[in-house]
Amino acid sequence: MIIGKKIISYSSLSSTMDMARELALRGEAEGTVILADEQTKGRGTKGRWWYSAPGMGFYASVILRPSREEISLLPLLAGVAVREALVEAYKLEIYLKWPNDLIFQRKKLGGLLLESEFFGSALSYVILGVGINFNHETKDFPPELRERAISLRIGLGYRLSPEAWQPFLWDKLNFWYPAFLEKKDEMIIKEFEAHHFWPRGKMVEVDNGIDVYRGRFVGFNLSGALLLTTPEGLQALTTGELSPKED
Ligand code: BTN
Repeated sequence: MIIGKKIISYSSLSSTMDMARELALRGEAEGTVILADEQTKGRGTKGRWWYSAPGMGFYASVILRPSREEISLLPLLAGVAVREALVEAYKLEIYLKWPNDLIFQRKKLGGLLLESEFFGSALSYVILGVGINFNHETKDFPPELRERAISLRIGLGYRLSPEAWQPFLWDKLNFWYPAFLEKKDEMIIKEFEAHHFWPRGKMVEVDNGIDVYRGRFVGFNLSGALLLTTPEGLQALTTGELSPKED
């Protein structure tokens, strides 16, 4: 299986996630990639939408059928691979923000979305969505995102071709995904931690939609959960919105 060996490209889709899901359900092989120039209903995590105008971004979904049932590390592995691909292609300082953000110049450059389906207790497929802001100018982002979002073009001052970046991405995914299948979990966590936007020891807050936890960030466990020392003890958080807090 080689990720990116088969690429199906569309000029416009509602979401590459939907098309990838449909194809996965029809038996499409692991490693197949769905690309779109634009998405009319691109989606992000937590039910948010993902702004996906034509010519601006890279919008892709990869069909995966991991032999491991324990997939909680997949978002971190994907972050590690996507970050490396961007760094190798453009020689930039890009960071990861748990659980699925790519950060450039302190703003969000891209994000990852994982959706999976089980039939009974068996994992049928996982779709990995990758969205990267390439050619947006500040005015191209909706007003509410302008403070927080960035594109490679804003950072570098010139347009880039999302096409040219693809081989870097497939190359890195084809390195890191097998590492995940071979359970090299410590290696993945170490790499994620090494490039995390806030280093260990930082005071942070995590809002998981139900509770807000405040404490000192001390790393990640082998399932990819964020570890926080709080007055109530050590917390392992599997999801949430991470933000910095003053000491
Ligand atoms: C996030 O919220 O940070 C995740 C964003 C993921 C966006 C990508 S773009 C390609 C794929 N198709 C979608 O509808 N979403 C993902």
